[in-house]
Amino acid sequence: MRPGLKLLTGAAFDVRIRIYVSAFGCHGKANVIRGLAALDKAPKTLHTERLLLRKPKAEDAEEIFERYSSDAEVTKYLGWPMHTSVVETRTFLEWSDAEWERWPAGPYLICTPANDRLLGGTGLAFETPFRATTGYVLAKDAWGQGYATEALLAMKSLAEDLGLKRLYAMCYPQHRPSRHVLEKGGFQLEGTLRRYFEFPNLHPGEPDDVVSYAWITPDA
Ligand SMILES: CC(C)(COP(=O)(O)OP(=O)(O)OC[C@H]1O[C@@H](n2cnc3c(N)ncnc32)[C@H](O)[C@@H]1OP(=O)(O)O)[C@@H](O)C(=O)NCCC(=O)NCCS
Repeated sequence: MRPGLKLLTGAAFDVRIRIYVSAFGCHGKANVIRGLAALDKAPKTLHTERLLLRKPKAEDAEEIFERYSSDAEVTKYLGWPMHTSVVETRTFLEWSDAEWERWPAGPYLICTPANDRLLGGTGLAFETPFRATTGYVLAKDAWGQGYATEALLAMKSLAEDLGLKRLYAMCYPQHRPSRHVLEKGGFQLEGTLRRYFEFPNLHPGEPDDVVSYAWITPDA
């Protein structure tokens, strides 16, 4: 078992040799990522020291809405508009299912392992088979306990296990706690993208600068 998997105990891993074909740029030659078996599909449940991360279900809509997606303070720096009705949260869950269908992974909910209480969300949003973006959101009562950092480290580990090469995150330049989480998580600042991204809850209709942080998977 590769070191990254140590964090993710308790899940049934469907480990297969993943072969990239020409469609992914290997010019027709079968290629086993880093010479190792990579996960074909992420586990639906991951365990870290203090957290349970799991694939969202349709029944989670109300709790997500109540805990964080409708909270103006929590969603202030996020890239999606605060939800004003649970219908919007259900739309997110449909998108989540589509992501899981299309890619090796998608969004995860962050929960307490003892009673599955919802704390927040994270995940991998694939852009190509080798590149994904990540992020994190926590309900207010879960802030300041290192949970975002713990969830981010789990996403790094998963990204490596899925054969990703680049995992990155973008955030609002003045959002110090989030930048600090990325720095604690071993992400490197790559630069500022000027007038790049709309933060719909902060400055609707106006593109703001963003800082981009990335983590590159170590070569095997
Ligand atoms: C940002 C957020 C994810 C942080 O989650 P968290 O679990 O409280 O984060 P952690 O406890 O792992 O780490 C936060 C770190 O930022 C530090 N911090 C807090 N305020 C800070 C500030 N103003 N300047 C610098 N660092 C700050 C904390 O001290 C802590 O670092 P430490 O462990 O070295 O003391 C959480 O506040 C949140 O969900 N906010 C709303 C959603 C959001 O903005 N997500 C990020 C979008 S880019």
